[in-house]
Amino acid sequence: MKLTIFGAGYVGLVTGACLAEVGHDVLVCDVDPARVDALKAGRIPIFEPGLEPLVRRNLAAGRLGFTLSAADAVAHSDLVMIAVGTPPAENGDADLGHVLAVGEAIATHMTRPVTVVTKSTVPVGTGDLVEARMRAVLSARGGAEWGDDAVSVVSNPEFLKEGAAVGDFMKPDRIIVGAASERATALMRTLYQPFNRNHDRLMVMDRRSAELTKYAANAMLATKISFMNEMAGLADRLGADIEAVRLGIGADPRIGYHFIYPGAGFGGSCFPKDVRALRRSGEVTGYEMPLVAAVEAVNDRQKHVMFEKLATALGGAEAIRGRTIAVWGLAFKPNTDDMREAPSLRLIDAVLAAGGTVRAYDPAAGTATRALYGERADLVITFDAQEALDGADALCLVTEWQEFRVPDFGAMETRMAGRIIIDGRNLYDPDDLAARGWRYSAIGRPQ
Ligand code: NAD
Ligand code: UGA
Repeated sequence: MKLTIFGAGYVGLVTGACLAEVGHDVLVCDVDPARVDALKAGRIPIFEPGLEPLVRRNLAAGRLGFTLSAADAVAHSDLVMIAVGTPPAENGDADLGHVLAVGEAIATHMTRPVTVVTKSTVPVGTGDLVEARMRAVLSARGGAEWGDDAVSVVSNPEFLKEGAAVGDFMKPDRIIVGAASERATALMRTLYQPFNRNHDRLMVMDRRSAELTKYAANAMLATKISFMNEMAGLADRLGADIEAVRLGIGADPRIGYHFIYPGAGFGGSCFPKDVRALRRSGEVTGYEMPLVAAVEAVNDRQKHVMFEKLATALGGAEAIRGRTIAVWGLAFKPNTDDMREAPSLRLIDAVLAAGGTVRAYDPAAGTATRALYGERADLVITFDAQEALDGADALCLVTEWQEFRVPDFGAMETRMAGRIIIDGRNLYDPDDLAARGWRYSAIGRPQ
């Protein structure tokens, strides 16, 4: 099948490469010339395990191509996916500017009826909006000759996780299709048939429900995390161990072990913005959503917890002035270089504002962090974990990359000036560290 994808970011690129891998003929269009040039040469602009070989293999096989030209992209096929960003606007709404621009570009260049598939995360009603905008452009072009069949907009939200995106796309838990016509549903079935072999993963519903399913899924996952972070705060104050509690509640299959890890707060390009956008959807319809608002508020507070623990360990926020703080893990989660809404940013900002110096290391996100802060004397980015520890009074572990799991504490003692670890991911054994003479402060665990 021939298809076109607008947007060569995490979702567009992974979708394009995976659909090409199963045999479809995919052309991906992006507005960023540097991105398109790099992709044409088989270089991927993001850190995503397994993606580069997939892109290269399918480029070489001629099943995957990249273009800057919206006209060429639309000419390529009559099945067009929208996978551009929907960043938060100032008031928390999802900014639909890119999505609507793509809809208008499709309507401007199309020469036959098209099925438009929205993969971007968009508020309920966006499908209607895209369809209306496209029809307006078409009628301004005088191209209304295809009548009602000219445009069919399908909602097909994406559920992949960064760092595991290729695996998630190749083995989806479900494929949500919100389509108004049987023709569009049949097209989606053909598109996803290779992912649907062992059992039917396709769930067909109306478009509004499909759009809401995406937000409800992300908000539910974010709720689990905020709930656990709130429990961890209570455990801290009551002298209980949240890790024991996590195991104790996770054993109940109605709760489950997934997504109940307390930590430094959730970040990334999706949970924070999607929770905000969902709350806004409630606001604009006059429906209060206190639970969703609390998920956001708890997360906001949680992102400050590591700094509070650091300040306590050093003897107060004033004591941070002139101190050196090592930070391990900068990306919002392991296996990505994505820094959007990363909890590390809040910690680094607070340490710098308190007059401390930060020595930070991340296996993938060092360069992205440097780009965010620029060159400054009080923020040293190292490209080796041990080097970040040199002269540090304390180590803050923010992101649980594998390489931080079993560190050489002996070597750390010789490099660091102090023996303090603030662990935002509960990676280490408090008793073991206490026996080694470290002051160890984790999330919701007795010290
Ligand atoms: P991204 O920022 O990584 O990529 C978006 C791309 O779209 C950029 O390369 C940008 O240049 C391009 N673009 C912008 N306007 C364009 C236009 N008019 N024509 C062509 N290209 C254009 O975004 P992302 O992380 O891939 O997210 C895309 C959407 O998918 C968002 O709505 C997001 O919420 C959703 N989503 C993301 C993830 C994820 O893990 N990142 C997972 C599921 C859903
Ligand atoms: C998330 C969802 O998991 C995907 O299903 C969804 O498609 C995506 O958002 C999206 O809509 O973009 P992602 O943000 O890539 O994926 O990463 P997650 O693994 O969900 O982690 C998000 C944040 O939650 C991270 O900061 C992580 O550290 C935190 N987290 C996760 C916890 O603090 N505790 C947990 O138990 C799990």
